[in-house]
Amino acid sequence: MRGRFITLEGGEGAGKSTLVKALESWLAERGRDVVVTREPGGTPGAELLRDILLTGATDRWSPVTEALLMYAARVDHVERLIQPALERGAFVICDRFADSTLAYQGTAGGVPAERIRQIHAASLGGFHPDLTLVLDIDPRIGMQRTLDRGESATRFERLGLDFHNRLRRAFLDIAAADPERCVVIDAGQSPENVAGSAISALEARLGQIA
Ligand code: TMP
Repeated sequence: MRGRFITLEGGEGAGKSTLVKALESWLAERGRDVVVTREPGGTPGAELLRDILLTGATDRWSPVTEALLMYAARVDHVERLIQPALERGAFVICDRFADSTLAYQGTAGGVPAERIRQIHAASLGGFHPDLTLVLDIDPRIGMQRTLDRGESATRFERLGLDFHNRLRRAFLDIAAADPERCVVIDAGQSPENVAGSAISALEARLGQIA
């Protein structure tokens, strides 16, 4: 039996990491083989690309180059980790995937969505998640959360509230355009309620899990 590919998307400080852990425990308690991973990254080569993508000046790469590097990392990740896990029947939970390229490099960075879809089709064909959970949060609350946990607000400060509001809109538009695959979750709720909403979505969308 082929496994299931679940992606988590949304702005910064939306609580993706906390939700990944909650879903991992919930699935493991039901006896499922669970693989948790993230993008950019997830394999040694893709983690190397993550380093060069997330460090340095914000304008280190042109938006198109950044999209291509994201896809270079993504192809390695899909071919070497995600696909083999799905083939052995695992549930793969991935913190960010292709929708982040559409939102960050596309809507926020100015690369036309059609160009990103062409890159996707050329490198991964019709490979898409079975379910995408979009964690939606007011960027001001997201920023406060990252400050509260002692993380530097550098990325937020560099990119600005306007950028984060555009990102939020981009993720909501992606979800609205693909309601079969995407579920929007109010990430302003308590972590317990966010996990509860995500589990309900898994049960409703992925059928029998236990
Ligand atoms: P995160 O691990 O904190 O979510 O950081 C990953 C960063 O990389 C985040 O700022 C979003 C960004 N990103 C893109 O710009 N495009 C992509 O395709 C992906 C996967 C992430």
